[in-house]
Amino acid sequence: MTDLVVDAYSEGWLRKGFPWVYPKEVQRGRARPGDRVRLRSAKGDVLGTGLADDGFLAARVLRHGDETADRAWVHALLDRAAALRDVVIDGGTDGYRLVNAECDGLPGVRIDWWRTFAVVCLDSASLRPIVDDLVAWLEEHRQPRGIVLCYRPDHRDPDRGALPGPSLVAGHPPPGAVRVRERELRFDVWPLEGPDVGLYPDMREVRAWLEPTWGGTSVLNTFAYTGAFSVSAARNGAAEVVSVDLSGRYLSRAEDNFRANELDPEQHEFLEEDVFKALDRFRRTGRSFDRVVLDPPSFSHGAGVFSAKNDSARLVAAAARVTAPGGWIIACSNLGEVSPKVFDGWIGDGLRKAGRQAQVLASLGQAADHPAATWFPEGRYLKVRVLRLD
Ligand SMILES: C[S@@+](CC[C@H](N)C(=O)[O-])C[C@H]1O[C@@H](n2cnc3c(N)ncnc32)[C@H](O)[C@@H]1O
Repeated sequence: MTDLVVDAYSEGWLRKGFPWVYPKEVQRGRARPGDRVRLRSAKGDVLGTGLADDGFLAARVLRHGDETADRAWVHALLDRAAALRDVVIDGGTDGYRLVNAECDGLPGVRIDWWRTFAVVCLDSASLRPIVDDLVAWLEEHRQPRGIVLCYRPDHRDPDRGALPGPSLVAGHPPPGAVRVRERELRFDVWPLEGPDVGLYPDMREVRAWLEPTWGGTSVLNTFAYTGAFSVSAARNGAAEVVSVDLSGRYLSRAEDNFRANELDPEQHEFLEEDVFKALDRFRRTGRSFDRVVLDPPSFSHGAGVFSAKNDSARLVAAAARVTAPGGWIIACSNLGEVSPKVFDGWIGDGLRKAGRQAQVLASLGQAADHPAATWFPEGRYLKVRVLRLD
């Protein structure tokens, strides 16, 4: 075990339970990525143990205080995470997040459960040393048919893109799609494509909140991906649902998800197009909607470049121009570094640009299987506003 001595600023945060050490906070000691490290104050107190990294973080803390983060400790964290899901996941749902990284005490580690498959997603290759502990726990307590390991580096990490693709680390590969249940809905997911397998379960409670409100409405679902909001709207009585996404592949999965829920995709529209182009055309042709869902990625590259920081106000403005009087916009952001205040500022700017005013009907967030730790501000990453426009 290598010792890293941290500065007083980091010491203060570590004593509060913060799970990260940044490179500039390390005063003494060197470690290679994946090395087990002991974090010490300048006075020599042991503040925690964890794993070293060489990206935007110098270390992630697996255990605060001076006891080691051995397999028994990791398993105790997993027991605690599983106990929460036993309470908050209803019997009709079998696709959910079992471990939510920092907020479940396992920084950089997410585990999603898809009916009979587990997808372990790491923020960094430096977390590889605890994979055997995770696999051993999953095999003992959940008996998955297969366990997939994948990576999703933080966008602040300079090494992003250099990591291996998803691979099976235990059991058998899924036989193509795995059909999961989310309350009364059905969705196909593809665990071997992790981490983006075809469904974002953090939106489950948002879908549940909206469920009784779709009846008879015309819905525009932008950045529709595999159509989870579209299916939920159509299944709950929306008169017409238009799903827009740049990816034809995802839209064809959205159509499959309609069929999986006994809905006829022919009764709805699926547009393979850039969202801004589609919104502009709807404005020019005078087409408006009772509900517009805006759930963009934080960043997207290629044909339809989108950046939450640069484009959110413009997106809200374009959506407001095609929202019928009295219609609703469901605006979402999943970027942890963006505070609710900043997000609300973008919404206000967008509405002003479009000359519209709105009431906030609900401020929603991630489902309870994506808990947010009080000592980790970025943990409350999902911000959703349901707005009713004048
Ligand atoms: C985070 S997912 C959206 C999740 C989705 N709303 C859901 O509930 O499952 C991002 C999606 O946006 C699409 N996308 C990214 N940029 C786009 C653009 N400029 N126009 C249309 N779709 C875009 C991607 O293809 C991807 O399917």
